[in-house]
Amino acid sequence: MDICGELVKLRAPLPEDAPFMADLISIPEVTRTLDAWAHGPYSIQHALDWINRHDPSQVNWAIDCLEDGAFIGVTGLRDLDFRDRNCEWGIWIGPPSRWNRGYGTEACRLATAFAFRELGMEKVYLKVYETIPVARRAYEKAGYRVEGTLPRDHWWEGGFTTSHLMAAYRDDPMYGGGR
Ligand SMILES: CC(C)(COP(=O)(O)OP(=O)(O)OC[C@H]1O[C@@H](n2cnc3c(N)ncnc32)[C@H](O)[C@@H]1OP(=O)(O)O)[C@@H](O)C(=O)NCCC(=O)NCCS
Repeated sequence: MDICGELVKLRAPLPEDAPFMADLISIPEVTRTLDAWAHGPYSIQHALDWINRHDPSQVNWAIDCLEDGAFIGVTGLRDLDFRDRNCEWGIWIGPPSRWNRGYGTEACRLATAFAFRELGMEKVYLKVYETIPVARRAYEKAGYRVEGTLPRDHWWEGGFTTSHLMAAYRDDPMYGGGR
């Protein structure tokens, strides 16, 4: 299901996105901000395998920039737990020239609203690295707050660094106050 905001559209990932995904994941500035999966070789086939995989515990979207229609990244909800009614949200956007334009904040709000309204989630959580202040700021603007701190959690350029757990809740006024 497409979800349209003012800056970005979330849509189903398509096989034709695979070359762009592989290109973006090969940019060191992008890769260094991501988890272990992005630090090994990442080919068009890796992207295709991800796009074609059916995993009922996840909902994934490609992010398109509405201004020029370009594919600029991926966002998704994973570990959907319909008993405890929570899930994890994640994102990457590239190339770096696309950062700091409000796309990440809006994609976060759209995916989080989907989790509350369409999936009935009570809480959406994420992990953010202390080394990426732009990410924490974007997530705070989308209603997430830090709930926990994990020292020595993430390997970053030669040393262990801290991560933070953040969460947003269904009854946040930003998301309609739980209605
Ligand atoms: C993290 C990411 C999703 C954020 O999306 P984005 O579109 O760049 O962010 P936005 O433009 O929506 O918001 C960025 C905010 O951070 C602020 N910011 C930028 N650099 C900052 C810094 N060094 N310290 C604090 N805030 C900063 C911006 O000013 C903006 O806040 P404002 O609107 O109040 O001015 C995106 O940058 C990205 O995909 N980065 C690479 C992958 C990644 O880091 N993924 C997340 C891993 S946890």
